[in-house]
Amino acid sequence: MITIKTQDEIKILKEGGQKLSEVLDEVQKNVEEGITTKELDKLAYDLIVKKGAKPSFLNYKPSGANRPYPATMCTCVNDEVVHAVPSKRKLKKGDLFSFDLGLWWKGLCVDSARSVLVGGVGSDVAKKLIAVTEASLYEGISAMMPGARLGDIGYKIQSYVEKNSNFGIVRDLSGHGVGYEVHEEPYVLNYGKKGTGELLREGMVFALEPMITEGDFNVKYADDGWGIKTKDGSLSAHFEHTVAVTKDGYKILT
Ligand code: MF3
Ligand code: CO
Repeated sequence: MITIKTQDEIKILKEGGQKLSEVLDEVQKNVEEGITTKELDKLAYDLIVKKGAKPSFLNYKPSGANRPYPATMCTCVNDEVVHAVPSKRKLKKGDLFSFDLGLWWKGLCVDSARSVLVGGVGSDVAKKLIAVTEASLYEGISAMMPGARLGDIGYKIQSYVEKNSNFGIVRDLSGHGVGYEVHEEPYVLNYGKKGTGELLREGMVFALEPMITEGDFNVKYADDGWGIKTKDGSLSAHFEHTVAVTKDGYKILT
């Protein structure tokens, strides 16, 4: 079942989303050569707590996992797609770094992710991968309105990526409903067919999160059982926003 959030709940989600985007801004400012992903994770934790919110990934057990997630943020470098656990790994100039963060605010949760190049430098393909992934997220968001269908979102993301690149769209992972729980129904696929799937209604809240790869879209688990990486070792980028369907369109909450 897809839950419907009230206008008051969407107001709270917007407050939480504002806090989350401020934390992401601050983390992003601190992304530089030599910093470890664990140091960035601690920064994210401290900032969330200082705002009176609570990390939502820390100790969260996704369905299918056999143990709770051990950190505040997911920190993915280069071929890591999602869910890589912060570590002593030091970021290098030119790394493609994706960071994904969620928090609880007044009983409701929001989720958002960004990708950047460490030091602002990198290969042309890395720059293009980031640009196409971010733009595809906004394409997907633009499909959100009452009366549209779930498949319209995936259709828009897929057609944008395929029109503008030869990049891969990860199939084994997707966006999702969010708000009362970290992951709610439905799966919001990053590919699809126009006019198919559930009808979108005012008050639905989804985390849209295209995960786009430089090469083949197939992924595998990292040795720690958390991180997910490209099978072919190619780069991956990831952008995510929490978005509500409103009376006449959508509202980005993060
Ligand atoms: N934003 C992540 C997702 O939607 C949430 C990660 S939860 C974790 O998949 F427990 F895996 F960190
Ligand atoms: Co998510």
